[in-house]
This record gives sequence, C-alpha cells and structure tokens, in this order.
Amino acid sequence: MIDPAAFCDEAIARLKKDVPERTIIAASGGIDSTTAALLAERALGDRARSIFVDTGLLRAGEVERVSGFFRESGLKFEVLRASDRFLGALEGVVDPEEKRRRIGTMFIRLFEAEADKFGTDRLVQGTIAPDWIESGGALRDTIKTHHNVGGLPKDMRLTLVEPLRDLYKDEVRAVARHLGVPAAERQPFPGPGLAVRIHGAVTAERVRQVRVANAIVEEEVERSVAAGTLAAPWQYFAVLLPVLTVGVTGDNRVHGAAVSVRVVESVDAMTATAMELPRSLTSRIAERITRELTGEVVRVLYDVTDKPPATIEWE
Ligand code: XMP
Repeated sequence: MIDPAAFCDEAIARLKKDVPERTIIAASGGIDSTTAALLAERALGDRARSIFVDTGLLRAGEVERVSGFFRESGLKFEVLRASDRFLGALEGVVDPEEKRRRIGTMFIRLFEAEADKFGTDRLVQGTIAPDWIESGGALRDTIKTHHNVGGLPKDMRLTLVEPLRDLYKDEVRAVARHLGVPAAERQPFPGPGLAVRIHGAVTAERVRQVRVANAIVEEEVERSVAAGTLAAPWQYFAVLLPVLTVGVTGDNRVHGAAVSVRVVESVDAMTATAMELPRSLTSRIAERITRELTGEVVRVLYDVTDKPPATIEWE
C-alpha cells in the first residue's frame, strides 16, 4: 500500500511538470477522476478546468448528485450536456467493444472542443492501473476496452495526463480520503455508463428502463446495508438483457424484458465474488422492478457468477 501524503506530493510535482500552461480535466464524479481533478487543481489552480459530461447514460439523479459532490469537494467545474450526441453515436450499435469505442471517441471530440476554448492540448483523466491492464497492451489480452484507454480515437489531438495510472482502487481510495474527498467509499460506476449495462441496442427507452431498475437495486441494497442486514458490497447494479420473455399482468400475457441483478464483493476489481443476498431482499428487488416497470420488465434474475470467469460488468 502506498503512503497517500507522499504520493500526493509527488503527483502534484509531476503535474506541474506535465502541464506547463493549462489543462482541462475529465471529471465524471467517480472517485478516480475526482481524485485526479483535485490533484490537478492543487498543482495548477485556475489553470485547470474540470468538465463533467452529462452523457445521458448516467444513473437516476446523478447530475445533481455529482454536482453536489464536486461542490463539497471544493472543485470548480462545468457541466456539458451531451445526451443527444451520445445516443446518436450509439444508434444501432450492439457490439460491446464498438459501444466503448464510440463513447470514448465522443468524449474525446467533446474534450478537444473544450480544450480549444480553454487554450490547451492537455487532458487530465483518472485512469487507474486495472483500466489499462484490462484494456490490453503489448503483453496482455484485451479483456475489455476501457473507454478512457483503448476506446480513444487514434487521431486524438490531446495529450493525456494520468496522475493515478499506477494505482489500484484501494490505493486511490486512500489518496481520496487523504484529500478529503467526501464518501470515498462509494461504489464505482463505469465511464461508458448505462450503455454497458444495456445488452443490445441502446435507445432512450431502454436507458430509462435500466435506470429505473438500477435505482431500485441501489436503494434496496443501501437500505439493507443501513439496517445492518447486509455487508456493504463493492458494486451493486442492474443489467437490461437482450431477451424478451413471457409474463402475466392481471389476466394478460405480457412479452417483456428481463433484468439481471449483480451484487459483488471485491478489493480491487481484479477479482470479485457474487454476494449471497437475503431472500427477502432479492424478492423485494424483483417485486419493485416488475411493478415499477409494469408491462416492460417481467423477469428478474440474480447473477451468481464470480470474477473470474465472468467480469463484474456484463459487457
Ligand atoms: P470488469 O467488468 O472489467 O470491471 O470486471 C472492473 C471494474 O471496472 C469498471 N469498469 C469500467 N470503468 N470504464 C471505467 O471507467 C470502463 O470502460 C469500465 N469497464 C468496467 C467496473 O464497473 C468495475 O468496477
């Protein structure tokens, strides 16, 4: 484990060298990018500008939550609204790697435009070790292309600055706590957002469905954790599956979607264990999802697979 104070001093000194003039910062509201953003602000002050992109693929209430979180962290930031552009870029795309590439490219095109306006060619992002390890390199297979690594376009005009590149998640959390990032134990959320939790085509309607299901999983798991009936998981979320399945509502047959629920324990996301949930919790989650999405989702499954052989996200 690293020494957070020594790491911050070194990272700030390196940022001052790597960013001679100004930089923009890709700030998603996650622990990684918030930590990277705070380090960059400490190193550069007003010469760094954080940009939070509303991709339209965020969780329920996330824009408000992240804005509040940034304000609490003392970060100066701007919100860039780009839902239509991301949904447009994903139209008709079902391949998970292609989704990640299109999302990565869209982020970079938006950041290039912002960098031009701010007068820089530097982009600080919160890439951590598992992102590039799993994205593959000379010696490794690609497990999945993290949008902030292998998903980047080849003709990108920005120079990346990645102060957390060598850290694992538990180390980032230690640094985040040292910097006073509030709620440094929040669960990770992937940069490509709900797009990688929607199997098959990403449409506005399917984003809405997975967003509702995901909010229910989060609420119910957090309620159980607060009540002391469940240990805090590493990650807990819903996935919308690309199958239609038969159900009944009242006297009517419904041909609707299926949602899978995933709740895992992990230390650094490199391996993970599917958690055993109390039956009352899984029943409540299934009841709420099928009721709050009546006629749209008719079946809820629980994913009992560890990583490996599965990964944490389904795509
Ligand atoms: P997997 O699914 O590879 O996920 O077991 C490991 C951890 O990384 C998160 N994840 C991502 N984070 N961009 C990110 O910023 C991505 O493309 C991405 N894919 C997966 C995942 O939520 C888990 O915490």
